[in-house]
Amino acid sequence: MCGIVGYAGRRDAAPLIIEGLKRLEYRGYDSFGVATLGSGIELVKHQGRISGYAGSAHQLHGKTGIGHTRWATHGIPNDANAHPHLDCTNRIAVVHNGIIENFSSLKRDLISRGHRFRSDTDTEVVVHLLEEAYAKEHDILVAVQNTVPLLKGSFALLVIVADDNRLIAARNQSPLVIGIGDGENFAASDMTPVIEYTERAIFLEDGDVASLKPDSVEIFHDKIPVTRPVELIDWSPEAAKKGGFSHFMMKEIYEQPKAFFDTLNAIDTDVLPPAARHPSSVTVLACGSSYHAGLIFRYLVEESCGIPARLEFASEFKYFPPPVEGLVIGITQSGETADTLTALRQAKAHNCTTLAITNVLGSSVSRIADATLFMRAGPEISVAATKSFVAQLAVLMQIMNAWAGRRWAGVLQHAHQSIEDVLHIDLSAAVSLCVPAKSIFYVGRGPFYAVSLEGALKMKEISYIHAEGYAAGELKHGPFALLSTETPVIAICMPGETYGVMISNIKEMKARGAPVIALGCEGDSELPDIVDVFIPVPETHRFVQVLTTLVVLQLLAFYTAVALGRDVDKPRNLAKSVTVE
Ligand code: F6R
Repeated sequence: MCGIVGYAGRRDAAPLIIEGLKRLEYRGYDSFGVATLGSGIELVKHQGRISGYAGSAHQLHGKTGIGHTRWATHGIPNDANAHPHLDCTNRIAVVHNGIIENFSSLKRDLISRGHRFRSDTDTEVVVHLLEEAYAKEHDILVAVQNTVPLLKGSFALLVIVADDNRLIAARNQSPLVIGIGDGENFAASDMTPVIEYTERAIFLEDGDVASLKPDSVEIFHDKIPVTRPVELIDWSPEAAKKGGFSHFMMKEIYEQPKAFFDTLNAIDTDVLPPAARHPSSVTVLACGSSYHAGLIFRYLVEESCGIPARLEFASEFKYFPPPVEGLVIGITQSGETADTLTALRQAKAHNCTTLAITNVLGSSVSRIADATLFMRAGPEISVAATKSFVAQLAVLMQIMNAWAGRRWAGVLQHAHQSIEDVLHIDLSAAVSLCVPAKSIFYVGRGPFYAVSLEGALKMKEISYIHAEGYAAGELKHGPFALLSTETPVIAICMPGETYGVMISNIKEMKARGAPVIALGCEGDSELPDIVDVFIPVPETHRFVQVLTTLVVLQLLAFYTAVALGRDVDKPRNLAKSVTVE
């Protein structure tokens, strides 16, 4: 939630910051702002999106600056609540990602001491506290160091003050990375705005405060200078661009064969902690799409490895923690989802061994978990998760493969080819049924029930059509009341034990007038005759069928959303990285 970027160098800061914010818009896009050290603090901020913006922020002067793209938490999206925020003297500017939990009491005290607030944000207390600290210390680094202990909650802060070319960065439980350039340095929520200029990165630790100048980066912890390792980020700058595709989501769907293959081959299960090598049971914690990846895993690991698995919404786990022991896996592509981080911390407190699966090097989850397996999906810009989801499955399937004595190594090595095969499937007939629908049901059984949940989530988040995933046998226990000729049902009907009962379920739905779109295996002799639209996927191993059916449902959601003219990459009200509970 919210993206921040800062620059200290020899070039004009504003254009670099604006470009950086465009890369970070997936984190929030209801307003934006830039402040530079020009003649005093120069500031432009607006409600709305920075993509397509060609206004006066480009003309701000100065070689040092900060910027922000917002996903509103405190205060509606408007110009006043957009960051950066200024102190009463207009000499200090701050951008913030996170939440200041004690802002109400701080604000009350600041107002009683005469400060004027211009926004409804929690962030503004920070800049007024800095104003007081700076008035005492006359040094912005010391002022930040003295202010940070007063703040409760999560924050990544960037601060500039007039007549000082330093950019100050502070981190506590919100992501913040420093990009080390040549005669210029960057600070940002992640590396996507920076990879164009440098691959050298320092991931700050919670409690770190850094001072950036064009030729130096100094990092302090409890005011004591510290060194942090410089990591090389091998994401190519092209990966964060559309590369000829109309939408990032389409590009990312097409990158899935590579994301799966690269991730599969990057995972070294030999480095798993002992408790994760032959577990007698496993608990998975995750949110949203990552939860659906966990559900697929739960079905497959119980069915294929005979290992009991339990899955919990990370957001529920915190308040209703069941008794846990042994191995706990946290799945979070961003590595920053607040609920998942909290749940993993709690699992650790119960002496569980925690294993994280994430796409982002240096992300918070990798600091919390006992061990981390990194996906190799590359940057995912579209808000809806696609290639990161498939890469999560690559990690989870590789883990199962290790637990089952590498029984599926051959199958997995060729899975990307089957994903490739379904990318060009003609979905026009299915799209025509979905576009006019007000509501769509997705049904499947076992792991395909989990796939149907994910398909429905993709549909609702990018097309805004109400869509629900159901275990196929459950529809007749109530939701049948909603079926009509205007309520398409998408059924995943694969060969195996549940094929016959799925056929019966489909007939029951047809009998209630619902148009049925069925995903089945190539060569299926029964489905094409009983459904309205039949979508064949290659007849392969069950693990691979999960992948191919999933990709078809991603494409169906994408084409439906495009046909409806939706903003596919930036759906309304959402943000990619949900760093608030
Ligand atoms: C949906 C989507 C979200 C995320 C969820 C968890 O397309 O992307 O449902 O899956 O917010 O995010 P991570 O995986 O970053 O923890």
